[in-house]
Amino acid sequence: MQITAAVLRAADGPYALEQVDLAEPLADEVLVRIVAAGMCHTDVLPRGEVTFSPPPIITGHEGAGVVEAVGADVTGIAVGDHVVLSFDSCGTCEACAAGNPAHCETFLMRNLLGRRLDFTTGVTDAAGAEVASRWFGQSSFATHAMATARNVVVVDKELPLEKLGPLGCGIQTGAGSVLVALDVQPGKTIVVFGAGAVGLAAIMAAKVADAATIIAVDLHQHRLDLALELGATHAIDGSGDDVVAQIHALTGGGAHYAIDTTGVPAVMTNALAGLRLGGVAGFVGIQVGDLVLDGAALIGKTAIGILEGNTDPHTFIPRMLELWQAGQFPFDRLIEEFPLAEINEAEQASLSGRVIKPVLRP
Ligand SMILES: NC(=O)c1ccc[n+]([C@@H]2O[C@H](COP(=O)([O-])OP(=O)(O)OC[C@H]3O[C@@H](n4cnc5c(N)ncnc54)[C@H](O)[C@@H]3O)[C@@H](O)[C@H]2O)c1
Ligand SMILES: [Zn+2]
Ligand SMILES: [Zn+2]
Repeated sequence: MQITAAVLRAADGPYALEQVDLAEPLADEVLVRIVAAGMCHTDVLPRGEVTFSPPPIITGHEGAGVVEAVGADVTGIAVGDHVVLSFDSCGTCEACAAGNPAHCETFLMRNLLGRRLDFTTGVTDAAGAEVASRWFGQSSFATHAMATARNVVVVDKELPLEKLGPLGCGIQTGAGSVLVALDVQPGKTIVVFGAGAVGLAAIMAAKVADAATIIAVDLHQHRLDLALELGATHAIDGSGDDVVAQIHALTGGGAHYAIDTTGVPAVMTNALAGLRLGGVAGFVGIQVGDLVLDGAALIGKTAIGILEGNTDPHTFIPRMLELWQAGQFPFDRLIEEFPLAEINEAEQASLSGRVIKPVLRP
């Protein structure tokens, strides 16, 4: 079928809306008409000098929409179902079988190549050339996306589908980092570096977890102001040279937990330095450059890399929806909608810091 998709043709070029051909679903695939798709910082990865998924590619990995067709082997998902699309996994490896699909042994291949495991894509352009279209098992910056039975989460038809896409990655990653990966305990102290979509979701989740001290660190004052509205008890301007000293003062000698969503090695170093002994730092941001630690940086401390909050979307997306309906997790305050045709403006608005979670409407 013919669909309209935002295709990134060059690493340093704009997205352009194109008519492309999408093949019929394979046995385990699910065709979804996209109602809305969030933009996550990870969508810029194909623009990198070193990338697993060079252009031409259709990105977008926070889709939400309505099922239009299902492959022959798909069970439990029907035409007309409302769905949120998340990351893909195999369902059978050791990690998947243990309920931890974020550590699926095929995670990188299924989500970051933009291709199926056999390297096909299922999308061809007007000239008949293949376009990468399996980005996080979906490529949802388009009128339609081909998902898999594994990365589709069916949701209640009464819910506002146009808001739900970001639950599939950025919001899930921030909240899951707090509630699942770090399992933040009541009364403890936590620092969140970076108050973008992932960081602000972590801050809302830290409030849900009843952390006593929740410190936001960012470079944008308007993001720090929002962090304070959403649950942070303190905000620190990350451009200062006394960030670690401020954290130690506010937490009585160092935080119990830290989360880095910036990927900046100097900030990751601060995340470790701001911990008390016994503290745990979760690294979530895509790291830019090498992290060099001095000999004392890890004494008595733990550092972990977190993927998608270490969540299972099939249980965690419903959990976030329950919290949202109870008024405890207002993730929709981070959203600003753009027509899909304005995807380049949406990307700029995100990179400049003005908009926290652009959501594209095809
Ligand atoms: N590990 C995962 O599974 C996973 C999932 C989703 C996103 N990510 C990654 O997480 C990161 C955050 O994503 P996002 O969508 O929230 O991005 P974002 O750009 O909205 O947020 C990043 C924030 O970090 C702040 N920042 C940058 N440098 C800083 C510094 N030196 N000190 C303090 N703050 C600083 C920015 O101002 C911004 O507010 C990205 O790297 C993204 O690729 C990882
Ligand atoms: Zn697996
Ligand atoms: Zn993402």
